[in-house]
Amino acid sequence: MNKHKKTLITAALPYANGQIHVGHLAGAYLPADIYHRYLKSTGQDSLFICGSDEYGIAITIKAEEAKRSPKQQVDHFHEINRSLFMRMGIEFSHYSRTTLDHHAKRTQEIFLEHLKNGWIEKKTIHQLYSPVEGRFLADRYVVGTCPKCGYVAARGDECTKCGASFEATDLINPVSKMSLSPLELKETEHYFFRFDLFKDQLKTWLETRHFKPSTMNFSRQYIEDLKPRCITRDLDWGVPLPLPNTKGKVLYVWYDAPIGYISATYDKDPDLVASYWLDPKTRYVQFVGKDNTTFHSVLFPAMIMGQDTSYKLVDDLVVNEFLNLKGEKFSKSSGNSLDLESMLKWISPDQLRFYLSLIAPEHQDCDFSFEDLVVRVNAELVGKVGNYIHRTLSFIHTRIGHVPHQGNLNEDDHQFLLELDRLLQDGAKAYEGFSIKKGAEVLLEIAQLSNRYFDHQKPWALVKELADRKRLETVLWCCIKAVKATLIQMGPLMPFSTSIAWSYLGIDTIPKRNEGMDSPVLAIRPPVPLFHKLEPLAKETNVSNLNETAQLTPATASSVTAPAQKSLIEFSDFEKVDLRVADVLMCELVPKSDRLLQFTLDVAGERRIILSGIRQFVQDHASLVGKKVAIVANLKPRKMMGIESHGMILSVLEGEKFELLSFAHAPSGGKIS
Ligand code: MF3
Ligand code: ZN
Repeated sequence: MNKHKKTLITAALPYANGQIHVGHLAGAYLPADIYHRYLKSTGQDSLFICGSDEYGIAITIKAEEAKRSPKQQVDHFHEINRSLFMRMGIEFSHYSRTTLDHHAKRTQEIFLEHLKNGWIEKKTIHQLYSPVEGRFLADRYVVGTCPKCGYVAARGDECTKCGASFEATDLINPVSKMSLSPLELKETEHYFFRFDLFKDQLKTWLETRHFKPSTMNFSRQYIEDLKPRCITRDLDWGVPLPLPNTKGKVLYVWYDAPIGYISATYDKDPDLVASYWLDPKTRYVQFVGKDNTTFHSVLFPAMIMGQDTSYKLVDDLVVNEFLNLKGEKFSKSSGNSLDLESMLKWISPDQLRFYLSLIAPEHQDCDFSFEDLVVRVNAELVGKVGNYIHRTLSFIHTRIGHVPHQGNLNEDDHQFLLELDRLLQDGAKAYEGFSIKKGAEVLLEIAQLSNRYFDHQKPWALVKELADRKRLETVLWCCIKAVKATLIQMGPLMPFSTSIAWSYLGIDTIPKRNEGMDSPVLAIRPPVPLFHKLEPLAKETNVSNLNETAQLTPATASSVTAPAQKSLIEFSDFEKVDLRVADVLMCELVPKSDRLLQFTLDVAGERRIILSGIRQFVQDHASLVGKKVAIVANLKPRKMMGIESHGMILSVLEGEKFELLSFAHAPSGGKIS
C-alpha cells in the first residue's frame, strides 16, 4: 500500500432533529471512525468530515412536534449529537453544520452554476396543498399508501417498508401528517434538476466503481429510471433560492446537504478543500446507511458533474444495512431504550463499539439484542481479550516484576509469533475492506490464540523452578508480543481501552501499526482490568434507570467504615472554599504517571486544567467526558509532572469503593453550597 495516499472520509450528515442512536452508529459513523483510525495508525493522511444536516422537513416537523423553532431544534440536537459522538469516541476531523452562512453561500453558488449550465429548469406544477393548514405540504408532511408495495403508512419522500423513493404526489390517498386532513393539488412554480440528462455519464462512471454488488445493482436500476427531480420547496426553513421573486422558496434539503461535505471542509480549513477535494490523487470514501444509497451513488455525483469545480467523486461508497432491535421495541416509551445517553450509563463506549462491530450489518440487516450483547461482551471481550491482557500483565507484574528477556525462542514460540503476524495481516485486510465485523473477529482470534499459548506454556508452573527461569522469561516475552498484537488490532475498534493498555507497557504514545510489535516495552505497570462484566438486564429494567456510576465502581467491594469526624469549624471557614460545578471537556492520561488523570474543564466558559490522582480507580477515563463534576475552584495552583493543576476534583474513596461527585443538570460554574 502506498504510504502517502490521502483519504477523504465522509459519513452521512445526521439530521439534527433527535439523538443519534446505535442504529446510526452501526450504519455509518462507527465503521467510518474505525476506518479513519486504522488509516491514521498506518501513518496515512486521512480527513474525516461530518456535521449536522439541519434543514428540511425532517427538522421542521420534529420542531413543530416539540414546540420549538427549527433553529432552537437544530441548536439543541447539534450540540447533543456532537457530544454523543465525542463520548462514543467517534473522532471527526471536523463536525460542522449546514445552517452556517457559508454553507448557504456555497450551495447557492452551485445552484447558479447548475442553472447557467442548463441542468435546472423551472416548471409550474401541482403540489399537495392543505386547505385546513393553509400551506403546501411536501415530503414527510404527507403520508399515504406506497405506490410500489401498498404499505399504508409510507412517507411522502420514501417508503420506510420497501425503500422506494418518490414524490409525495405519487402516494395513493395522501393526507397531512400533522392534521390527517385530506390534501388537494394546487399550482405552484418549482425548479427541477435534470438528473435524466446525466444518465449516460453516470452509467459510464458507475461501471468504473467497485461498490458492493447490491449497491451496484440498486444504482444501475435507479439510473435507468432517472427522472428530473424537484429541488425546491415551499418552506421558510432552508437555503433560500438565490433568485429574485422567489420568497418563501428554499432549496430541497437533499440538494444542499451533500454539498455540506464540501462546505464542512471549508469550514475546517479552505486549504483542505484544495488538498483533498480537488486533488485527483485523493481517495474519497463515503459511509452511508442503505436508505441513503441513491443520493450518494447517483444524485450527488450528478450534481458534482454538473457544476464547474473539479471536486472528487466518490471512490468507495460503503453502504451498510440496517440494525434492528430484536424482540424488543425500538422506542423510548418501552422498557429497553436504545438511546445512547442511557446506554452509556450501563456500558462503556468501548464495550458498545465492540458489540456493534461484531454484529455490524455489513451484508444484511442485523439484530441488536441486549441479551446477546451481555453474552458477547462478557464471554468474548471480557473473557478472551480483557482476560488475556490482564492475566499476562498481572502475572508479569506480580511474579517477575520486570520486562521479560527474549532469550532463545523454540519452535512453539516461532510458530506462535508467525501466527500472530498472519492474523495482523488479516486484521489489516479486514479494515482496508471496510469490515469492522471481520476486524473484531480477528481481534478475538488473536486473543484466543494468545490464551492458548499461555495455557500450553504454563508460566505459573515455570515460575516455581529456578531451572526454568530462562524459559519463563522467553514465554512471557512472547506473551507480551501477543499483548501488543492484541492492542494493534484493538486500537481502531476500542480506542479508549487501547491507550490505557499501552500505558501498562510503559508506552504512552501509541505506536504506528507496523511499529507496534517492535516498540520497546519500558515497564510493566500494575494493570487494572480493562473491561468489566455486564450484569444481565432484568426484563423489566429500563437502561435509563441504571446506576450511573456502575462502571466506575471497582468490582471488589470492601466493607466501609466511616472515618472519624474532624473537629468543628466556623461557617466562615467553610465559606472560604469556593466549590463549583465544572463540565468535563477532556480527560486524558498523564504520560509517565500511574496515578494522574488530566482533566480539561469548562467552568462557566472558562477553561481550566486539574490533575487528579484517581487513575487507578477509573476504569474508562474517557467515559468521564461530558460529566458534571464538583471542584474546589480556589486552591492555589500546584505543579505535578510538569503540569500546573488549578484546583481539585471531589470524589469519595472508601476502601476500594470509588465515586466521583457529579451532577445531572447543574450549570457549569454553578456555586455549590
Ligand atoms: N440527514 C440524512 C439522513 O439522515 C443524510 C444526509 S447525507 C448528506 O438520512 F449527504 F446529505 F449529507
Ligand atoms: Zn413501499
